[in-house]
Amino acid sequence: MNLLYSVLVSILLVDFNNAVPSKISKKIVPNPRVCVIGAGVAGLTSARYLQEEGISFTVLEATRYVGGTWRYDPRVGTDENGLPLHTSMYKHLRTNLPKPTMELRGFPVPEDMPSFPSWKVYYKYIQDYAKHFDLARHIKFLHNVILVSREDNVWKVKYQNVLSGEEFEEQFDFVIVGTGHYSKPKYPNMPNEEHFTGTVIHSHDYKEPEIYKDRRVLIVGAGPSGMDITIDVANYAKTLVHSHHSKIKFNTVFPKNYIRKPDVKEFNATGVIFQDGSYEDIDDVIYCTGFQYYYPFLDKSCGLDLSPKSVTPLYKYMVNIRQPTMVVMGLTVRACLVVALDAQSRYATALVKGNFTLPSHDEMMEEWNRRADVIRAKGRPLSDIHFLAEKEDEYYASLTEESGIERVPPVMFKIRSVDTQAKLDDLYTYRDYVYTIIDKDTFVRTLEDKDVNRIR
Ligand SMILES: Cc1cc2nc3c(=O)[nH]c(=O)nc-3n(C[C@H](O)[C@H](O)[C@H](O)COP(=O)(O)OP(=O)(O)OC[C@H]3O[C@@H](n4cnc5c(N)ncnc54)[C@H](O)[C@@H]3O)c2cc1C
Ligand SMILES: *[C@@H]1O[C@H](CO)[C@@H](O)[C@H](O)[C@H]1NC(C)=O
Ligand SMILES: *[C@@H]1O[C@H](CO)[C@@H](O)[C@H](O)[C@H]1NC(C)=O
Repeated sequence: MNLLYSVLVSILLVDFNNAVPSKISKKIVPNPRVCVIGAGVAGLTSARYLQEEGISFTVLEATRYVGGTWRYDPRVGTDENGLPLHTSMYKHLRTNLPKPTMELRGFPVPEDMPSFPSWKVYYKYIQDYAKHFDLARHIKFLHNVILVSREDNVWKVKYQNVLSGEEFEEQFDFVIVGTGHYSKPKYPNMPNEEHFTGTVIHSHDYKEPEIYKDRRVLIVGAGPSGMDITIDVANYAKTLVHSHHSKIKFNTVFPKNYIRKPDVKEFNATGVIFQDGSYEDIDDVIYCTGFQYYYPFLDKSCGLDLSPKSVTPLYKYMVNIRQPTMVVMGLTVRACLVVALDAQSRYATALVKGNFTLPSHDEMMEEWNRRADVIRAKGRPLSDIHFLAEKEDEYYASLTEESGIERVPPVMFKIRSVDTQAKLDDLYTYRDYVYTIIDKDTFVRTLEDKDVNRIR
């Protein structure tokens, strides 16, 4: 059957709930049109699969570049067109996952790519991917999406040429939102920060450590950015004061200039007083306090509950349950992110193609509620709804089971687990390992060609 048939069925299922008999009128829209928003990994992988299926689509990208957050830009603030700089990349960034778990399907990472490539090497790989699959011809660069709304059973997408200011509105049958969520900083609320005379930035604007030479730097937060930027800046700073409340056991032995502190109590003009009453003189602050979900262009009529901490309700972590001809990509946290994006792109394409149909609205809500209940029962915040973590492999299996896409092999999750532990053990050495996939369940980890251990 045809794509639009299934798309229509899902629309009707939502509108009239699942009391709709299977004999609903099969109004077939002749040329289904898909709008992909963003040309990062999410948008590019979607474009590749949609193209392969001969589906008509357009990618709208606000900048003149592909690759989204992987493109380092030395500037902060706004770009040459007055748009907020999207990328959160910094000069010394290397991936925190090894290259087999950063590979896009059907486009092997180069033999000579380092085990944990720099942003520059990985960005080149993404650019090469776009060239290899000839994707640029589908991308409207420098077109910023400003409003997506749902009217009369179609999507209306309003976008603006960022150079001329000219606005356009187009109708689509399906929308793939791939605008990323590591761009809009989440700032903490710190008492008396306004009296502090040093510099304060968020990790989104962190570029390079050299400017912190011989300075007393405070880093707040112990997420992936917090840990990575701590190591980077500690190489230069006079003292690196690290404030966080993570209960995770970090085994890394830090250098002598590293000082661990609890949460910030308050600032004064010259430094920071911590919750334990201690004080440190501080010259510069870097907040590594994470990012907000931010979809300012999604109108209420899209049917999503949007908050800085969560986007709900989503079926399979991506399908907008209230309007299931929209998917939001990459909202899976704690996973092999590009591998997950690639799988989601295939799932979305299979959905558009009509390879499978979604469950009813109520069944999808049930799936979502089951997950939400587990989180509530643990007394955890609803933002956990986006965590895959231990459920990562199960997730890939379920995407395949439902949509028929090729399964992401279990070895991906296994490598990520070992890499995560290695990182907890030693931030300075975890990137010295080389991971080689043997088969779908097995990989080999080597260290400087010695110490081979097979992990199954
Ligand atoms: C510092 C950092 C390090 C990371 N390290 C790793 C790692 O080691 N391994 C890993 O797997 N993942 C890593 N990630 C996660 C990374 O975000 C994903 O790997 C992936 O690149 C996300 O791709 P995306 O396409 O979803 O979003 P993005 O790469 O953010 O791309 C979104 C695109 O949408 C465009 N856009 C935004 N709004 C609009 C609009 N309104 N209209 C039109 N276009 C718009 C943007 O310009 C951008 O090009 C890292 C992220 C960061 C920030
Ligand atoms: C900030 O507080 C500390 C600790 O109480 C103090 O030693 C320091 O002088 C204060 N700085 C200013 C400018 O008041
Ligand atoms: C949809 O199904 C066809 C036929 O089985 C298959 O060739 C194609 O790869 C599928 N598309 C996706 C995106 O899974």
